Amino acid sequence: MGELPSMKVKPVKWEDVAYWCKLLSKRIRDSGYRPDVVIAIARGGFVPARLVCDYLNIVDLLSIKVEHWIETGKHIERAYIKYPFKVDLTGKRVLIVDDICDTGESLIVAREHVEEHCKPLEVKTATMQHIPSVAKIEPDFYVDVVKEWTWYMYPWNYTEDMVNLTRKIMNSDPQKQWAPEEVKEAFKIAYNLDVPLETIKEVMEEATLRGFLEKNGSKYKLKT
Ligand code: ADE
Repeated sequence: MGELPSMKVKPVKWEDVAYWCKLLSKRIRDSGYRPDVVIAIARGGFVPARLVCDYLNIVDLLSIKVEHWIETGKHIERAYIKYPFKVDLTGKRVLIVDDICDTGESLIVAREHVEEHCKPLEVKTATMQHIPSVAKIEPDFYVDVVKEWTWYMYPWNYTEDMVNLTRKIMNSDPQKQWAPEEVKEAFKIAYNLDVPLETIKEVMEEATLRGFLEKNGSKYKLKT
């Protein structure tokens, strides 16, 4: 049996998102930048971008899908535009919005794509969180500076994150049959998260439906 993972995780509430986006919008307004078009980076930028549009009275909201993959064995993360598009943004001031600037790869490739293919007048970038210790780019606007690298569990991603955090825990002992109670304990140790047992059970059921786990009686094992 291996060691449990250890990761700093911050659960985010919807009210936190509204608060950060309001502050972010104020920073943008106070800077004098007046975007004509907001482009949300899919999927994390959807909700923040929509809120920024509301707070700044912007009606033109587009989206760009950035995909990430890890180069095998190299520990290098690459990002690319999954569905490249060409829209005419001649004369437009653009604001690209994402939830977090972590490596910054998403912002970099989105910005490059828009500048190269859409001919905008100006492009600026905005995120709620920024992690300067790992980011290759500083967004033009952000509100929350993350000192120690942290996984932000945004409310729109709760199920996906909980399934992945569960898989990480169970991967510490891939042959083991795990009871939900044991996973609950592991969540405390690995992520310092106190998750209700009912939620753990729901998540393990969902992870089974998604094909990641197999159920034997009341216990679960990682699917190989
Ligand atoms: N997406 C990329 N990096 C992230 C992080 N640190 N937290 C949440 N979502 C992310």
